[in-house]
Amino acid sequence: MGEVDLHVTLGRLELKNPVLAASGTFGYVREMAQFVAVERLGGVIPKTVTFRPRAGNPTPRTVETASGMLNAIGLDNDGIDHFRAHHLPYLRTVGTAVIANIAGEDVDQFVTMAAMLSDEPGLAALELNISCPNVSHGLDLGTDAAVVERLVRRVRAVCTLPLIAKLTPNVTDVVAIARAAADGGADAVSLINTLRGLAVDWRRGRPILAYDYGGLSGPAIKPIALRMVWETARALPGLPIIGVGGIATADDALEFLVAGASAVQVGTASFYDPSASETMVDQLALRLAAQGTASVRSIIGTLRSNREPV
Ligand SMILES: Cc1cc2nc3c(=O)[nH]c(=O)nc-3n(C[C@H](O)[C@H](O)[C@H](O)COP(=O)(O)O)c2cc1C
Repeated sequence: MGEVDLHVTLGRLELKNPVLAASGTFGYVREMAQFVAVERLGGVIPKTVTFRPRAGNPTPRTVETASGMLNAIGLDNDGIDHFRAHHLPYLRTVGTAVIANIAGEDVDQFVTMAAMLSDEPGLAALELNISCPNVSHGLDLGTDAAVVERLVRRVRAVCTLPLIAKLTPNVTDVVAIARAAADGGADAVSLINTLRGLAVDWRRGRPILAYDYGGLSGPAIKPIALRMVWETARALPGLPIIGVGGIATADDALEFLVAGASAVQVGTASFYDPSASETMVDQLALRLAAQGTASVRSIIGTLRSNREPV
């Protein structure tokens, strides 16, 4: 059998393979280039950029938990002007799709930043981080379906790039939020950002993180992310989904793909194995070849319920 075709499309976004590096876990790519052949990935999503520089939250900002970690970085970044002047010129050279990720404090700020990036050469898409649990705004935006629809619609009006809404799992009904993003004109959704959690130092009688709460990521959240991807894929079959949450191996990625994701993001795994994403590309091809599958696209969304007749 010849080479497995790993190429995927998510609406207007074309990727050479379905493996992306998740925002906030791959720096601005430069930091990772010594560990990963970045051009071999399907794409990279640099750390969230905000309108103004942000110092982020006080430390400690991270703590390890069972099968995962909590973080409360608080969107530490140098702001959009610095991103355009300093990071974008480098990102244009990395040899794969670059998906910028932005977060505004309100809808107007999202619109302003999207307009600033719309005509920048070298960007494949824009991911809207409406789901960061570690800042006072942001999360609020992504939990209200009406706000999500309006936000995406207004960004759509000023930005020609494919739009990906990155959704929070900290809601009762993620499908309602995904539907709102689609109705507003999102080309795809990323599912999921981190789950709000708490780590306690009982001796001190204090939370471990300086911000008190943090976002849970890593293998611990994979079943929740899978459930949300499958629910959304079944309810909204026309909406491309990018799976994220605890994905560390090709088998993890394949689980998300059959559940209905057209691509995946590698997050926390890059911290303990910086080359996890590149290894995943190789292993995906091997796994599919071993199954006699010629194209990764043929397995997307093939998961069937045990409650359906055989
Ligand atoms: C330390 C850390 C920082 C993160 N920063 C961002 C960020 O800036 N923007 C964003 O959209 N997601 C951010 N995330 C969320 C990840 O992109 C991802 O959605 C989440 O961690 C779940 O995937 P994982 O379990 O593979 O890590 C961050 C996650 C971690 C662990």
